[in-house]
Formats: sequence, C-alpha cells, structure tokens
Amino acid sequence: MLQQAIIVINGKGGTGKTSIVANLAGLFAAAEYRVLAVDLDPQGNLGRDLGYLDMSDGGQSLFSAVMTPGAPLVPLRDIRPGLDVICGGEYIEDLSSALAARSQRGKETTRAVRDQLAPLAGDYDLILIDCPPGNRPLQQQALSVAHYALIPTRSDDASLDGLVRVAELFAAARETTNPDIELIGVVLFGIGSRARRIAESARSTVIRDLGDATLVFDTEIRHVEGPAQDCRRLGRLVHEIEAELPDAQRARFAWLRARRGQGSGRHRPDPESVAAAVNLAASAPHLAGDYQRLAEELLNRLTKMSEVAV
Ligand SMILES: Nc1ncnc2c1ncn2[C@@H]1O[C@H](COP(=O)(O)OP(=O)(O)OP(=O)(O)O)[C@@H](O)[C@H]1O
Ligand SMILES: [Mg+2]
Repeated sequence: MLQQAIIVINGKGGTGKTSIVANLAGLFAAAEYRVLAVDLDPQGNLGRDLGYLDMSDGGQSLFSAVMTPGAPLVPLRDIRPGLDVICGGEYIEDLSSALAARSQRGKETTRAVRDQLAPLAGDYDLILIDCPPGNRPLQQQALSVAHYALIPTRSDDASLDGLVRVAELFAAARETTNPDIELIGVVLFGIGSRARRIAESARSTVIRDLGDATLVFDTEIRHVEGPAQDCRRLGRLVHEIEAELPDAQRARFAWLRARRGQGSGRHRPDPESVAAAVNLAASAPHLAGDYQRLAEELLNRLTKMSEVAV
C-alpha cells in the first residue's frame, strides 16, 4: 500500500471520478504539492481534462513496465508545474487482458501496478488514481495500491448502486490484498441547485448503506454541465478558467472591436475559446469554489486519518 495514494472509484460510469482527479490534482499542484495523477482507465479521459492527450502514450509505459521485466515506468512530467501523470488509454485494456491471462495461469497479479508505482512514490506528496467504471481486475489493481479510497456518486439510484458494489470490492481488498486501505469518504457529485431534496435523500441513502454519517463529505460538486464540457473540450481545469475570466471578457470586447474593424483580424482571439470562457463566467467561480472546498476537506480528513500529514 502506498501511504499517500488515493483512488477515486465507483462501479458506475459518469459519477465524476475523472473530473475530481483532474481538478484536485491541478489544485494541489498549484498549491505546490508534488502530485502524481495515475490514469488506470482505458478511456484515457484524464488526458482530456488535463489537456495532454497529444502527448499521451496511451498507457504504453505502464503496460511495458508491468509486462517487461526491467522496463521503467516513466511519468509524463510537468503537465502543470509540480504535476506528473501516468497516462491511461488503449494500452490499459491490453494490460488488463494480459494480467487476466497471467492470473489464469495461476500467477499472483493483484499487486502488479502497485509494484511499479512504489519506486516512484517517494517523489510525490500525493498520488491520485482515476479508475475505470467497470473492469473489476483494474479496479482490484487500484484497490491494492492505495491507502485511501474516495467514492464520488451522483444522486440517482444507479450511481448509488455502483457505490454499494464498490464498497463490496473495497471490503474484499481489505481482507486480501490491502488490509490497510481506508474509505476516506463519499462525495456527492453533479448536484443540481434546485434538487436539495434529492441530494439530501442521496446523502441519507449513503449514510444508511455505509452506516456512518461522517463518511459523506460536507462538500458537494454542483451540476453545471455545459461549462464542465467546455473545460474538458479545452483541456483546462475549472480554477484555471476562473483565473482567466477577466481576460476572457476583455478578449470578447477585443473580438467585437476587431469585427467592427472588418478584415483587421490579426488580433482577433479564437472565438471558440472566448465563447467558452465567457459562458463559464456565470458558474465557474462557484464550481471552482466547490473543488477548492473539496481539496480543503480532503486535506483535513487526511490529516485526521494519517499520522503522516501531507
Ligand atoms: N460539475 C458537473 N456538472 C455536470 N456534469 C459534469 C460536471 N463535471 C463534469 N461533468 C460531466 O459529467 C460527465 C462525467 O464526468 P466524469 O468523466 O468526470 O465521470 P467519470 O466517473 O470519470 O466517468 P467514467 O465512469 O466514464 O470514467 C462528463 O461528461 C463531464 O463533462
Ligand atoms: Mg472517468
């Protein structure tokens, strides 16, 4: 188990795992923590949120490191100052099949990924691991790496069922590969501002299923779908867009002025990114605040739960 590693996991798709890993990793790195983000998902969506898809190796480094003795695991360095990543993507699917084949031949494989990450761990204050929604073998790999598991859920029944499935996997890992893993908490994700009753009912369901009210984070991540999609399309994090908002507004006026000048398009900013940033103006500061509070609450919980403060 790696002391400072947190997996973000839920058995259901679309519950905010990747958004949370990307935004927390970016925020902690901006606060000068040394952060490693690991994408254990064949979808490779972390590369979209953090905007490194064109540099991604599709998970090849992790695949080779696990499969070929002596092959080094090489992170993609400094995709933001202080933030390195182990890329996910199509090779992670191959990794999963290869590990399944090994395991069918009777080899012990559940700690294969952990064994590769362990030599790198000393370089980082925090390791955040994004998990795929399905693919039990990959989820088991993640569960044997981490000290902590964070489960994001939406408020719908399918997501809450996904949480129960993951809680079972978590309990199994505790009994076998990783007795020290701890549930750091459940985060309610994509909660609509007019859906308080639904959110409270989801909160009660989680508390009932897990039997412990303190396991649900106070912080919720609000529902703002359009801007979240803009962030992913642009490969920018919410706090990064927030920081640019005044510039975006200035840029919009520059663009309008450039249009009025007809033909003097030399200084015309890219209309698509200006439009996206301006659209974010209405909600990004609130969403950025949610992630900021989530980071703070996570740090408080880590400090409470571990002797080693991060
Ligand atoms: N605050 C938000 N409100 C509404 N939708 C959001 C928000 N943040 C992200 N989304 C959108 O929700 C979808 C799922 O988010 P995300 O990819 O983070 O979930 P996931 O659990 O990683 O999904 P998967 O299981 O497919 O890996 C994405 O389309 C994303 O753009
Ligand atoms: Mg994801």
